[in-house]
Amino acid sequence: MSGQTLAANVRTLATVDLSKVQLLAKSCPEAAQWTPSEFELSIGDVRGWVIGDTQILFGFIAVRVIAPAGEMELLNLAVGPNWRRKGFGSVLLNTALADCRANTYETVFLEVRESNERAIAFYKRHGFSISGRRPNYYRNPDESALTMSLRLTK
Ligand SMILES: CC(C)(COP(=O)(O)OP(=O)(O)OC[C@H]1O[C@@H](n2cnc3c(N)ncnc32)[C@H](O)[C@@H]1OP(=O)(O)O)[C@@H](O)C(=O)NCCC(=O)NCCS
Repeated sequence: MSGQTLAANVRTLATVDLSKVQLLAKSCPEAAQWTPSEFELSIGDVRGWVIGDTQILFGFIAVRVIAPAGEMELLNLAVGPNWRRKGFGSVLLNTALADCRANTYETVFLEVRESNERAIAFYKRHGFSISGRRPNYYRNPDESALTMSLRLTK
């Protein structure tokens, strides 16, 4: 981890985290803005992790497993503006990828706003490549999505 040393740990996203996660997402307009019910862990096969210290939540990630296809979709990822470039996003992504490998899912895919150069650079740094473009995919504001994917090696 680069820069200042912070005592952070990763844990599974729990119901108790949801209000902090929603607040953090609000501070990151590029992240998907979900309602608490959309964050509910009981629905479907959404899995999530958070990173933080005892008081502050630095970031979170949420993924959905599409088991029959052996795929994992990265649904949401955000690190609070004050906590970026310290390796927290990488820790979260690597946690999700390790879970994916442990479950022998082979492919991870995601959509990202075409203008979100920061996230695109981040995903490329982690080995993702652009696999397609979905014109006019997002609303508020309207924008196309790039699809990115990563094939996991065993
Ligand atoms: C994308 C995001 C999660 C990255 O989190 P982070 O904790 O800052 O990422 P890391 O510190 O682990 O960065 C790892 C590497 O990714 C790349 N990277 C991260 N931010 C970058 C930026 N702003 N510009 C260029 N490269 C960047 C770098 O290679 C970086 O390594 P380095 O710091 O040693 O150069 C964070 O910027 C964020 O929350 N953005 C807003 C929400 C968002 O866009 N989510 C994605 C929606 S699809």
